Amino acid sequence: MPEFTHSAVMVAEVVAALRPESGGRYADGTIGRAGHAAAILAASSPGGWLYGCDRDGAAVEAAKRKLAEFAGRFEVRQGNFGELADWVPPGSCDGVLLDLGVSSPQLDEAERGFSFQQDGPLDMRMDRRQAVTAASLVNEASVEELAQIFWELGDERNARRFARAIAREREHRRLERTRQLAELIEQLAPRQGRKAHPATRVFQAIRIAVNDEIGSLQRGLAAALTILRPGGRLAVITFHSLEDRIVKAFGRARARDYTFTGGMDVPELREPRAPELKWVQRKATRPRSPQTRAAAARRCG
Ligand SMILES: C[S@@+](CC[C@H](N)C(=O)[O-])C[C@H]1O[C@@H](n2cnc3c(N)ncnc32)[C@H](O)[C@@H]1O
Repeated sequence: MPEFTHSAVMVAEVVAALRPESGGRYADGTIGRAGHAAAILAASSPGGWLYGCDRDGAAVEAAKRKLAEFAGRFEVRQGNFGELADWVPPGSCDGVLLDLGVSSPQLDEAERGFSFQQDGPLDMRMDRRQAVTAASLVNEASVEELAQIFWELGDERNARRFARAIAREREHRRLERTRQLAELIEQLAPRQGRKAHPATRVFQAIRIAVNDEIGSLQRGLAAALTILRPGGRLAVITFHSLEDRIVKAFGRARARDYTFTGGMDVPELREPRAPELKWVQRKATRPRSPQTRAAAARRCG
């Protein structure tokens, strides 16, 4: 039975949780700049193998360069981790890692449009081949859709107010730049000494919607289970509470020794079955050092 571990940040701790060893096979579904991937390959030398993917073509190229010293021991492709099971053999992996969210290079490059701190096009696509951008969403979604996105994906309590203001604004001009949107939100909810920019939650929500991050996560967790071998481990690094809830709900559901139908767990209606996962660590590990906390905070935009 594959085992399940759920933790946050810290490369060494996460890599150790996967128990890399020579001859093992690992998958990194969010290879980014290959920090974790390089550590996995180093720790599983000389015979460990890594399958890696990222939606972002620039990350894939950077990862391949970074992993050059491990040539012949990895395969890296551009793609969504929700599709890992389409190309990684089933039951083949000793460890799977998903490090959710955006990377610092994505946030730092104004042209990618993820950050409200720099002006750039309202883009936010991790995979720049996809048609939907932040601009198309913000300019074309209905007030109800926008309010739902801000509320459900950003926990934004001014969701409806912000959605209505966006709709009013776009009657005069399309919203095309990150600064336009950030300033519009700031006018409605001035900072008043708060540390976080008032547009933080709106930007997070739009990014999650543009990249279908929740759907991808659900598909990615299922794919991870398909490619793990019995006894293999899954480690997930989450950044915000919505992801965290989804990962924990997945862990709970797959670790049960019964199923139930109809959405309600009624003891009399339970169907016994063998659990698909075993929790290794139910409680999340949190970043401990101030540097790691700062790095985590930076990721939100
Ligand atoms: C926090 S970074 C990962 C950093 C990486 N662990 C490292 O050590 O450099 C998250 C990465 O995941 C990618 N990503 C997010 N969702 C994805 C998905 N559904 N499929 C594939 N890649 C995804 C992003 O493009 C980004 O490069």
